[in-house]
Amino acid sequence: TLKAIRASMLDVACVVDDPVDIEKNVRYIEDGLLLVTNGRIEWVGEWEEGKDKIPEGVRVRSYPGKIVMPGFIDTHIHYPQSEMVGAYGEQLLEWLDNYVFPTEVRYKDKDYAKEMSEFFVKQLLRNGTTTALVFGTVHPESVDSLFEVAENINMRMIAGKVMMDRNAPDYLLDTPEISYNQSKELIEKWHKKGRLLYAITPRFAPTSSPEQLDMAGKLKKEFPDTYMHTHLCENKSEIEWVKELFPDRASYLDVYHHHGLTGPKSIFAHSIHLEDCEWDCLQETDSAISFCPTSNLYLGSGLFKLQEAWKRKVKVGMGTDIGAGTTFSIMQTLNEAYKVMQLQEYRLSAFEAFYLATLGGAKSLSLDHLIGNFEVGKEADFVVIDPCATPLQQLRFDNSKSLADELFVLITLGDDRSIYRTYVDGRLVYARN
Ligand code: GUN
Ligand code: FE
Repeated sequence: TLKAIRASMLDVACVVDDPVDIEKNVRYIEDGLLLVTNGRIEWVGEWEEGKDKIPEGVRVRSYPGKIVMPGFIDTHIHYPQSEMVGAYGEQLLEWLDNYVFPTEVRYKDKDYAKEMSEFFVKQLLRNGTTTALVFGTVHPESVDSLFEVAENINMRMIAGKVMMDRNAPDYLLDTPEISYNQSKELIEKWHKKGRLLYAITPRFAPTSSPEQLDMAGKLKKEFPDTYMHTHLCENKSEIEWVKELFPDRASYLDVYHHHGLTGPKSIFAHSIHLEDCEWDCLQETDSAISFCPTSNLYLGSGLFKLQEAWKRKVKVGMGTDIGAGTTFSIMQTLNEAYKVMQLQEYRLSAFEAFYLATLGGAKSLSLDHLIGNFEVGKEADFVVIDPCATPLQQLRFDNSKSLADELFVLITLGDDRSIYRTYVDGRLVYARN
């Protein structure tokens, strides 16, 4: 089952905690060879050096003019919100009531959930995303169907059933006990089955009672290597509401921290309007943030302080946050990340953007020992990028002056058309027509 891929190869060699170290660790091989066996990276290097390692009879898949990169990692996305992406004109709390909740109720129907799970995974793959941390709905069937689809292609996917027992329509509520029991059952059924992992998923503080957050904390204690995935400090009205609902807690993040929901496998989407004490807590507990620029601009939520996260050495990955986010494409997400940082006088470099989408994302999910670059032994999830997918991109590519320039243009102009092939677990799972 050995596979040999010949193309340009691009990755980042190691995890860094300062952005200036990224460029030093970028590895680019103009004429490279990637060898894959049983879903793992077996060898990567110069074609000339490696070509004799290819056993006779193995066909080399050559992609001239293309760039092979590690698969993209989406650290925050809602699979049951594809239907209402781009719904007009609200900020977070009204948008949830008017568009999200009426959509999510449809996922109590397992057939519908299965159909949408298939749609969702296809969209990830056509956008070059090979790992995602995903919100389901309150219905356990929604998570079953997503995991079933991911399992079929042995995709590394993290997902969980939403826990919410208040401040949403009755038809979407569970209770502390029901959410505990259903989550536990799903953990026992799916966590670490193949490449699948479970995330305990309280929607956000306003939709969980303290009793339910206790249950979430209890689950995390009983299953310490599961993930915890929620929203934090996205919107100013949301933050005010949390302060009213939890007057005894020092901050929004303290609500989660108090219930044992911070830590190295806790991922907090948005985290835009953080107080100093919240930054301290994220840093001290080694929790991670998902940066969701398209969503934060679309809902008018605010500008994420990436510079502060670097300063504090708080882990950050990129999130599309479909359906508040407006694209499945991590490239388009990086395009908007660049603009968000421009407004804060911070120039996001092409290499930094690329790092956040691959190895940095893997680190934020505590998966950097398994995915995120081409280290030998890692899981063989990668994309074959077409840097000249449109006439404009071709023109601009022909006028590029450096690798950094090429990569930056790709991130600025790229989208799903830039994804030529996607490989998961060493197997071809998407090919552009
Ligand atoms: N906060 C609570 N629920 C949601 C959601 O579905 N999307 C976003 N963007 N924020 C949330
Ligand atoms: Fe979200």
